[in-house]
Amino acid sequence: MALKNILALLVVLSVLGVSVAIPNLSLGLGRGLDLDYYRNQCPNAEGIVRRVTVEYVTRQKSLAAALLRMYFHDCFVRGCDASLLLKSPNKDAERDAIPNLSVRGYEVVDAAKKALEKKCPGVVSCADVLALVARDAVLVVNGPWWPVPLGRRDGRISRKSEANLPSPFANIDQLKKSFWDKGLSTKDLAVLSGAHTIGISSCALVNPRVYNFTGKGDFDKSMNLGYVRALKRKCKPTDFRTPVDLDPGSAKKFDTHYYNAVAQGKGLFVSDSALLNDVDTKNYVIKQAGVSFNKDFADSMYKLGFLDILTGKQGEIRKKCSSVN
Ligand code: HEM
Ligand SMILES: *[C@@H]1O[C@H](CO)[C@@H](O)[C@H](O)[C@H]1NC(C)=O
Ligand SMILES: *[C@@H]1O[C@H](CO)[C@@H](O)[C@H](O)[C@H]1NC(C)=O
Ligand SMILES: *[C@@H]1O[C@H](CO)[C@@H](O)[C@H](O)[C@H]1NC(C)=O
Repeated sequence: MALKNILALLVVLSVLGVSVAIPNLSLGLGRGLDLDYYRNQCPNAEGIVRRVTVEYVTRQKSLAAALLRMYFHDCFVRGCDASLLLKSPNKDAERDAIPNLSVRGYEVVDAAKKALEKKCPGVVSCADVLALVARDAVLVVNGPWWPVPLGRRDGRISRKSEANLPSPFANIDQLKKSFWDKGLSTKDLAVLSGAHTIGISSCALVNPRVYNFTGKGDFDKSMNLGYVRALKRKCKPTDFRTPVDLDPGSAKKFDTHYYNAVAQGKGLFVSDSALLNDVDTKNYVIKQAGVSFNKDFADSMYKLGFLDILTGKQGEIRKKCSSVN
């Protein structure tokens, strides 16, 4: 989309009450992506993806979280190259590394890609489709909007063994390091963790923290007691399946409630609570508990979209997102 169209869209969105934030666009210049990349070969690419995404996510709001997470995972492992979407007959691709409860939403990306292939076959990469789908999905659940420069190419390799995503049991030093390794800052960590304002996990990842934290049948003492009790009511020790909200009390809406929860010891994962164990991330949590973080989120998502991208003649434009050409 050309800059003047973006500005026009921003006006419309702000009239509609959507939070809009323009990141530092010059961050992306010279890195091979372009806000109007498909202007000749597929001028309505963004519109097509938006229509499909809004249709799916409006019908099933919980898909927004799944799609946002999908994008994070794709970018964090081998860069934003849609490697996460590749299927492997041997079950050793990136997508096989994700706990399967949250393996949802691939159908949205596939539907958007299919609609694009009808209009402009072989032109728009799956990596770009995923970047747009994630952005548009967040908008449906009242999140901010951010511009998505396009021109990413699709990778041909996907390995489960490379899926070194941060663990939900990671401490703050491990989290900071894993973000730094990707060129993301401590602030990006505090901001992007706010994505846990929507979505779910399951008792499988909660039980170790509330039933046997140090191997002595105990719970994590840094947690809010009432929250521990509520989690134990929800998750019996042998239950590994029941869904649990990441942002207790406000898991369906994209807002700043996640930070209130973390500040009160109600972060679901060790990695959520860990934000209180560093001066900078703690200050961010305290500051955001109550204030809008939409602008920061837009900035960090914009930045995420440049991680290890393939451009120019690298990679390919897949015909189907689940397999290489
Ligand atoms: C900081 C390190 C992070 C850790 C340790 C982490 C860990 C996790 C885990 C373990 C789950 C639950 C998965 C399951 O039960 O199947 C989850 C869910 C989720 N994560 Fe993260 N995450 C992190 C950062 C992020 C970032 C940066 C984003 C996006 C920008 C994100 C977005 C989400 C969303 C939206 C869900 C809910 C998914 C759904 O409802 O299907 N996470 N995360
Ligand atoms: C935007 O990013 C560029 C390139 O990194 C930097 O030189 C410039 O100071 C930034 N502008 C603002 C307003 O942050
Ligand atoms: C989920 O993963 C488990 C273990 O990895 C596997 O046995 C099970 O078949 C998977 N379920 C689905 C629906 O893919
Ligand atoms: C708690 O953890 C310890 C050490 O890992 C293990 O030996 C014990 O069986 C666990 N208890 C339960 C109830 O899972």
